[in-house]
Amino acid sequence: MQLVNLLKGDKNAGRALWFMRQAGRYLPEYRSVRAEMPDFISFCLNPEKAFEVTLQPIERFDLDAAIIFSDILTIPWLLERNLRFEAGRGPLLDAMDHPLDINAQLITSLEDKLSPVGDAVRLTRKKLSTDKALIGFAGAPWTLVTYMAEGGSSRDFAKAKSWLWSARAQTKALFSLLEEAVIRLLVLQARAGADVLMLFDSWAGAVPDALREDFVINPAIRIIDGVRDQGIAQPIICFPKGLGEGLLGFADQVPCQGLGIDQHTNLAWAAENLPENLVLQGNMDPLAVAAGGAPMRAELDRILAAMAGRSHIFNLGHGFVPHTPVENVAELTQLVRERG
Ligand code: CP3
Repeated sequence: MQLVNLLKGDKNAGRALWFMRQAGRYLPEYRSVRAEMPDFISFCLNPEKAFEVTLQPIERFDLDAAIIFSDILTIPWLLERNLRFEAGRGPLLDAMDHPLDINAQLITSLEDKLSPVGDAVRLTRKKLSTDKALIGFAGAPWTLVTYMAEGGSSRDFAKAKSWLWSARAQTKALFSLLEEAVIRLLVLQARAGADVLMLFDSWAGAVPDALREDFVINPAIRIIDGVRDQGIAQPIICFPKGLGEGLLGFADQVPCQGLGIDQHTNLAWAAENLPENLVLQGNMDPLAVAAGGAPMRAELDRILAAMAGRSHIFNLGHGFVPHTPVENVAELTQLVRERG
């Protein structure tokens, strides 16, 4: 299993390849399954359907890893934040009035209510070829708080950020609760057979520098420690998106095996300055794949040059956009394979 070997430090494992949002709306076979489902959350919690779409990009592109079809917002769903997805609007939730505006008791039923995620992992692991890794994942507390505070996606994260300054103690209590939920969700997936775990902190870059330790770095450390305390040994990839030079402090302190690099970070700088034993993942601009042709090939040249001589998981800097032509993904996949 190339991805796992790489993350365990095998320098001869070669480059591994998978893509964030590899199962998603750019694939016609995904759209046709999606069209049958009443809503997105019941889709995520339907093990047979989740399994089916998880394998679609593997069947089409023969990638090295599958990521279980699910969503980071299953935790706010468990916390009864009234999660729904309306076409063209992204996720919507009931906005929280204050950081403790939540029923903490609800996380006691996590293993029960989110058992379909474990079932989907078991089903997928059974069918996925043994040389391919299955990735389980969760969202980091800060990114979850942005959606829960604001009631959906946000441009400036004004409410969640105001809590970091003006309601710090309560916000830390909310973080502890979410850390526990994230640990339990990751453990559930690892025990069901996930080979690698990934922690998405998509909006980490919005946390002010002075607060990064408290709300990005320390939560990631506590989550990894909590998962390890449960006897889980699978490699962990962190993706604290948007940290820029803050990646140095993150990499220095957080005991992860892989680190996702977004497309706004200079990959040559990352390769030169981040610890040698950390496997870097990234960082093609998803819009360069949507553009295709010469711009996509130039992006590929840039990435391969930056990563020469270093362990690398080829990936995007963020997920595919829905209008990505499938033939561009096929071409990119072939080029990455040809060029090692
Ligand atoms: O293929 C994969 O990457 C695995 C599945 C996966 C999904 N979401 C499926 C999905 C993963 C790993 C996620 C993570 C996720 N979800 C993140 C972290 C990564 C990132 O993109 O920053 C975040 C922030 C979310 C929250 C979320 N879920 C948003 C903002 C949206 C709307 C996106 C949009 O463009 O409308 C979703 C919905 C979602 N999650 C879709 C998919 C395939 C599309 C919804 C649909 O099919 O209708």
